[in-house]
Amino acid sequence: MFINATTHEPYIRLPHPLSNFIVTPPRDSDVEAFTLQMNDPNVTTWLSSLPSPYLLEHARERLDTFTKKYTAQHLAELEAAADDQSGRSGAVGGLVTNTVREVLEDGSEVMAGTLWFRRSGEMRVCVGADVTAEEAERLSKENLARPNGDPEIVWMYGNHLATSHHGRGITTVLLRTLLHEWAVPRMGVRKMSAGAIQGNEASVRVMQKNGFKYRELLENERGLVVNGVAKNLHMLEWEFDEAGSSTAGSRC
Ligand SMILES: CC(C)(COP(=O)(O)OP(=O)(O)OC[C@H]1O[C@@H](n2cnc3c(N)ncnc32)[C@H](O)[C@@H]1OP(=O)(O)O)[C@@H](O)C(=O)NCCC(=O)NCCS
Repeated sequence: MFINATTHEPYIRLPHPLSNFIVTPPRDSDVEAFTLQMNDPNVTTWLSSLPSPYLLEHARERLDTFTKKYTAQHLAELEAAADDQSGRSGAVGGLVTNTVREVLEDGSEVMAGTLWFRRSGEMRVCVGADVTAEEAERLSKENLARPNGDPEIVWMYGNHLATSHHGRGITTVLLRTLLHEWAVPRMGVRKMSAGAIQGNEASVRVMQKNGFKYRELLENERGLVVNGVAKNLHMLEWEFDEAGSSTAGSRC
């Protein structure tokens, strides 16, 4: 991670040939672009639990109560770990940079999308169809209570990219970069689970190209509803091995 010498904002740059893309914390100025993106059916068809229409107030609330709060918290954790004189490097609990921006030739930036990693509080989807609701609840509480850096934590991943930027390999490289340059070394992420609504083959492909293994299709039993229609969910999982490559995970 680098620090912008002028704005003091932390950022991660995607590798060549996408080095004109940077990943930064969210900014107040993202609200309008984010609102437009959250009203685009190419994007929203594949996301659940979104208000429709998605208003500026929704974007502002999300920015203030969720993304800004958590990225700032994780930056504070990172600074505390750097100041720690004990020699033990503390793990942080999430991403500091989660918003991808294209830097244009004139230096202006276009907010192109977001990506998040968070602990799973929905272990029922992570563990699969053969677990009782009570056991899933117990596993979820256990997962949320684990200390930062615990290799047993099951993480979930999600993202969106503006339609203008689809199909250029951006999310594949973004996920790879944030996983290997941040989540593995800084958060201690070792197990990850992710879902994609049935039909979202691009999202499944992005994950597979990053070493996620397909596990199962969860059919319509998880209360997953988009625009009033119940959906099925492809579930994939990823596990890190110490040799540095990802392998098919045991069940998350
Ligand atoms: C899904 C999404 C994240 C993909 O991002 P992206 O940057 O366009 O993806 P990439 O260009 O890195 O890779 C897309 C891959 O999917 C493939 N793909 C695209 N559409 C496909 C389809 N209909 N069927 C099969 N494969 C498809 C592409 O060919 C590419 O694979 P390849 O490199 O092997 O050719 C993006 O389109 C998006 O944000 N969609 C809306 C929101 C969303 O779906 N979020 C994820 C929720 S889980």
